[in-house]
Amino acid sequence: MNNDREKSIVFIGFMGVGKTTIGKLVAEKLNREFIDIDEEIEKEYGMKVSEIFNKIGERSFREKEKSVITSLCEQKNKVLSLGGGAFLQREIRKVCLSASFVIFLDLSFDNWKERISQIIESRPILQGKSIDEIKELFYKRQEIYSNHHLKVITDNQDPEEIAKLIINKLTILM
Ligand code: S3P
Repeated sequence: MNNDREKSIVFIGFMGVGKTTIGKLVAEKLNREFIDIDEEIEKEYGMKVSEIFNKIGERSFREKEKSVITSLCEQKNKVLSLGGGAFLQREIRKVCLSASFVIFLDLSFDNWKERISQIIESRPILQGKSIDEIKELFYKRQEIYSNHHLKVITDNQDPEEIAKLIINKLTILM
């Protein structure tokens, strides 16, 4: 088998775009293990992400995020969902782009903002920001996510359809 076909698949994109939901579906279809990086970090600390930010601080969270991701993305045949801020770290980008297959899940800001109320409580990065500040962050992050192997636009499609489309693309691209 071609080595590239065994590479782990890594989902990136802004908070709340559906990395975990879609990642799980893709993993199921490919018969691979799915790992949510935030959940791994939460297990290690025994705390939710927002608690880690409050009690230990974002800097420690980012360090842990880097070590968890760099060790996992070099493993074969996994599907990983990264936290939306992970790709801001150059080392994470570098290792994921060379060792794994990176899929950027994109969503328009207009559709994304409909989801704010469902996600804000568990996302410390969004808290205390105005909608304009969040919008600015959203667009700033798009530049970082432009480092990928495949971009999938998720507007107006359900997760199952998106997962199927990804599987089709992977058979051509990987
Ligand atoms: C973050 C995104 C979150 C989580 C943490 C920080 C960010 O993950 O890692 O709250 O900086 O964008 P999701 O993208 O899964 O929400």
